[in-house]
Amino acid sequence: MTSVPTRLRALVDACHPGPTATVSVVVAALSAAAGRDPLGVALMGLATLTGQLSVGWCNDANDADRDVRAGRAGKPLVRGDVTARTLWVAAAAALTATVALSYVAAGPVGGSAHVVAVLSAWTYNLLLKTTVLSALPYAVSFGLVPAFVTYGLTPPVAPASWLVAACVLLGVGAHLANAIPDVTSDERVDAGGAAVIPGFVDSHGHLVFAGERAEEFAARMAGRPYSAGGIRSTVSATRAASDDALAANVVRLVAEAAASGTTTTECKSGYGLSVEDEARSLRAAAPYVDEVTFLGAHVVPPEYVDRVDDYVALVTGPMLEACAPHAGWIDVFCDRGAFDGDQAREILRAGMASGLRPRIHANQLGQGPGVQVAVEVGAASADHVTHASDADVEALASSDTVATLLPGAEFSTRAEYPDARRLIDRGVTVALAADCNPGSSYTTNLPFCIAVAVRDMRMTPSEAVWAATAGGARALRRSDVGHLGVGARGDLVLLDAPSHLHLAYRPGVPLVRSVFRAGARVR
Ligand code: NIG
Ligand code: FE
Repeated sequence: MTSVPTRLRALVDACHPGPTATVSVVVAALSAAAGRDPLGVALMGLATLTGQLSVGWCNDANDADRDVRAGRAGKPLVRGDVTARTLWVAAAAALTATVALSYVAAGPVGGSAHVVAVLSAWTYNLLLKTTVLSALPYAVSFGLVPAFVTYGLTPPVAPASWLVAACVLLGVGAHLANAIPDVTSDERVDAGGAAVIPGFVDSHGHLVFAGERAEEFAARMAGRPYSAGGIRSTVSATRAASDDALAANVVRLVAEAAASGTTTTECKSGYGLSVEDEARSLRAAAPYVDEVTFLGAHVVPPEYVDRVDDYVALVTGPMLEACAPHAGWIDVFCDRGAFDGDQAREILRAGMASGLRPRIHANQLGQGPGVQVAVEVGAASADHVTHASDADVEALASSDTVATLLPGAEFSTRAEYPDARRLIDRGVTVALAADCNPGSSYTTNLPFCIAVAVRDMRMTPSEAVWAATAGGARALRRSDVGHLGVGARGDLVLLDAPSHLHLAYRPGVPLVRSVFRAGARVR
């Protein structure tokens, strides 16, 4: 958990202290020059300060996702010192304060002028920043400053029109001075012979957790088998962690994934396993990832081991009710040591009745009913599929359910890899994902997964790259990511290599030169 001084420092850094202080001092000075008494000057300064704080915090909270992916270490949120939720709360509090202070400082007309100026700046942050209208809110906000000052005088007077016009021009000028350097650098990218591929779509990750399990990994490499029970040690650490620590872990891993070319991320809960810990896990992840999945049915937590039916009732009842508003998907671990086919079906159907779409962890540790349940409920994806019977393969081939293979899990549990060739040859749609989690696959690196899939799962390099991009998009039912065609979001990766083949041909080499998301460079 971050300390209070660190968090306060982070709030100061996140409010854009330079402009915030300058604007507040200028408005206070103008009020003094216009004849306000010291109390009036102080109130005007304070109203401006709180307004500027709200604008700065709203800006950083709103850009959280972009800044994380870009790894902007200068931003306190990216360093994990403060969360987007804290910034939103701070922005809302400052906004409330500025509304009250504005009316106290400048009366009904002057106060309204300032409130509109602040709301116009919020509109810039939330809606207009990347549009052709981006200069408009600057013009409005700056143009209203004289009215804020002069209507606050006794008696109130209208500002001189030349002064309003000068402030409008100043606003437009300030905006252009800010934006022009960015526009120029946005326009030209020299790919310099690099292969350009779509950004990776990582459709399976468990990023909300605390602690790690390196010792468990070492024990496995010394011969101990992997079992679902290891999940419980991460559950204790996660329950003991603060909301901020959980969010910081997500931020860290999303940034790590972006560095190896991931531009779309799915993230599950599943290490809280109580109503409150599952809900706060989902809330911690939501601001930083593209798709959020409720996995309350990861394993049965220790306090329910002798009452599995009660736990299923909790997951499908109060836990689902608390979690559904924060997620788009429902998942269940249907395998030995976790949930059986009937329980998995019941959990997925309950989630679907609450508006969530189904996906499933199936057949990782052995053959079982998971794949059949996936096809039966129309799951977007059955994940792992390490042990598939012929009937499972046929069922997948004649359905819309994607088989998402997770080679990082077989690598780190020293298990047999799934045979992707067998699935592809029978017509199954195959995706590749990293399955980042502290137990069975602690990697965010899709180029690594591609190399393993090509080497040990009998995929061609082209199939593997497709599976980690377009395949991942299909597993998330997304048509805007995973490809470079018309309608795509504009997520691309430039490789320090002449073709995509090098991702498998040069394993372990950091070939990702730059990464673009929604047309903007993030790395
Ligand atoms: O996808 N299979 C279930 N869940 C994770 C493992 C979680 C853990 O071991 O902590 C997986 O591999
Ligand atoms: Fe998983």
